[in-house]
Amino acid sequence: MQLLAGKPVVDALRAGLLSRIQALKERGITPCLTVTLVGDDPSSHIYVNAKDKDAKELGIESHTYRFPATMSQADLEAHVRKLSSDPKVHGILVQSPLPKGLDESRVVDCIDPTKDVDGFHPQNVGLLCLDRPGHRSCTPWGVIQVLKHYGITTAGKRAVVIGRSDIVGRPMANLLIHKGALGDATLTVAHSRTADLASVVREADIVVAAIGKPEFVKGSWLKPGAVVIDVGINRVEDASLPKGYKVVGDVEFSSAQDVASAITPVPGCVGLMTRAILMSNTVDAAERLS
Ligand code: GUN
Repeated sequence: MQLLAGKPVVDALRAGLLSRIQALKERGITPCLTVTLVGDDPSSHIYVNAKDKDAKELGIESHTYRFPATMSQADLEAHVRKLSSDPKVHGILVQSPLPKGLDESRVVDCIDPTKDVDGFHPQNVGLLCLDRPGHRSCTPWGVIQVLKHYGITTAGKRAVVIGRSDIVGRPMANLLIHKGALGDATLTVAHSRTADLASVVREADIVVAAIGKPEFVKGSWLKPGAVVIDVGINRVEDASLPKGYKVVGDVEFSSAQDVASAITPVPGCVGLMTRAILMSNTVDAAERLS
């Protein structure tokens, strides 16, 4: 069983980004990412701090705007519109989920699509579906880079994506049916209403698990030799650990490792890739906008 570690993929990607950022700086341009966080969701705070750290390490300017959960829809939309029209800003990310009462779609609609480094704007979603250039959703595009790095092709293979979220499942499914060695899969999208999920998974040469339920997919469901991409990042309580919890994926690693030919570790792959692609999308935006 091959462990598909994210670090070598991220290291290669960051090396390329550093030289592109240097070239931009020689022209007097510093890529600039803005992250907007509304409310006090604890996981979101951790993600936002990580994005800020990644940006600073690469020499990307990073601004984090924190607002209370009581912020109005109109004020949030006005804030995003202001960033959209600010020529110094290249990337705009509004951390999801927003507190109850705020309409995420209407906020995303206010992001200039050329600055939509999350790839959430309907224009970028459409471009991705059509396999035309645009900002691609970070997690699914990161998964494609992992497959590419490790020489895993999907053409002609049976792929199952478990989950149909706007952030992961839908864009992942679209990428896997693009034409090319990293697409051309014969695809099934499974979700919470899928009957007999285990038998659907057993058909797959490539399994992408993006359900958000700890260790939900069992090794016994897998076809021997399957490649498993685990998108899940779930905290589960574990009193024996100093932190009191551990992070596990959507796949039960202990049973999957005996059946799969390759598997992404959690933590240590897809989460790192998501962060790296966000930086890459920010540099793309800075290059296109300047
Ligand atoms: N919440 C969880 N993942 C993401 C992401 O990739 N982007 C944003 N904006 N919010 C998230």
